[in-house]
Amino acid sequence: MGKATAIAHANIAFIKYWGVRDATRRLPTNNSLSMNLDAAYTTTTVEFAAGYRQDVVVLGGVEVAGRERARVVEHLDRLRAQAGLALPARVVSVNSFPMAAGIASSASGFAALTVAACAAAGLRLSERELSVLARLGSGSACRSVSGGFVEWRAGETSEDSYAVSLFPPEHWDLRDVVAIVGGQAKAVSSTAGHAAAPSSPFFPARLATLPERLARLKAALARRDFAAFAPLVEEEALSMHAVMLTSRPPILYWAPGTVRLMQAVWAWRAAGLPVCFTIDAGPNVHVLCLPEAQAEVERRLRSLAEVHDLLPCRPAGGARLVEVPQT
Ligand code: DP6
Repeated sequence: MGKATAIAHANIAFIKYWGVRDATRRLPTNNSLSMNLDAAYTTTTVEFAAGYRQDVVVLGGVEVAGRERARVVEHLDRLRAQAGLALPARVVSVNSFPMAAGIASSASGFAALTVAACAAAGLRLSERELSVLARLGSGSACRSVSGGFVEWRAGETSEDSYAVSLFPPEHWDLRDVVAIVGGQAKAVSSTAGHAAAPSSPFFPARLATLPERLARLKAALARRDFAAFAPLVEEEALSMHAVMLTSRPPILYWAPGTVRLMQAVWAWRAAGLPVCFTIDAGPNVHVLCLPEAQAEVERRLRSLAEVHDLLPCRPAGGARLVEVPQT
């Protein structure tokens, strides 16, 4: 009992989670599919001890308060209820990537928090149970619990809404060169965006097209067929952004550089480079490519004025406990 540290990677969705059937329990409207990213991860240490007066949450070296702290405390409360524990905790969490880069940290953050806090509380859970618990903190976090290429099955109840690994990281050496294009701080949180999704008249149309797209994407992934994979991933990202743009009120996550990059990627693929893009709830563009194209893709991205920085990633494993030297 006491203290544990875990690492979890962020993930990029090829089939997106956008829309919830049940906001409190974060039950998604549809299945989603993602890949863990090796260079983008969160390391979290949780210590339960009677000595603390209340839960302390330190993110990136700064003690946080308000909504950010409350979301972590709510998650600890779920876990304490399950473990029959009443002790306060100290949570210290660090991202491998700058927060300002606009890469979603809630997936890696809540996956690492779940795995570390369960170990510190002496809760022995299966991967499936950890996935369910991480999902309650942040939906996409359930996909960071399992390794490699992961599918989150929407399920009917909280107990059967969890993620499973479809293929290990070694299955396909796909690269995700995350192009940071900047823009303002996230205008609308993902949580608010999920709630707004049904206000789009295009939401039902998106849901109707998803099962077929998911099946085709899984088949392309199984075959490591980039030519089939590329247009499906882009179609999916644009379908989600079409729902965002037509929600009431509309949500526009793109910056001018986002559009510039989408057009550049199309031109590069048309000229023979194995490259495609996907975009989450923000302006940055995830430029996916085969390993032989990565150096050229990075060179071209760096030549664009809109690109502030690059974070090249490979497929990564799932969340895990790590040993840290005692100080
Ligand atoms: C666009 O998992 O951040 O990245 O459950 O409210 O924490 P909450 O939402 P979150 O939503 C992720 C949305 C997305 C698509 C995806 O990762 O599937």
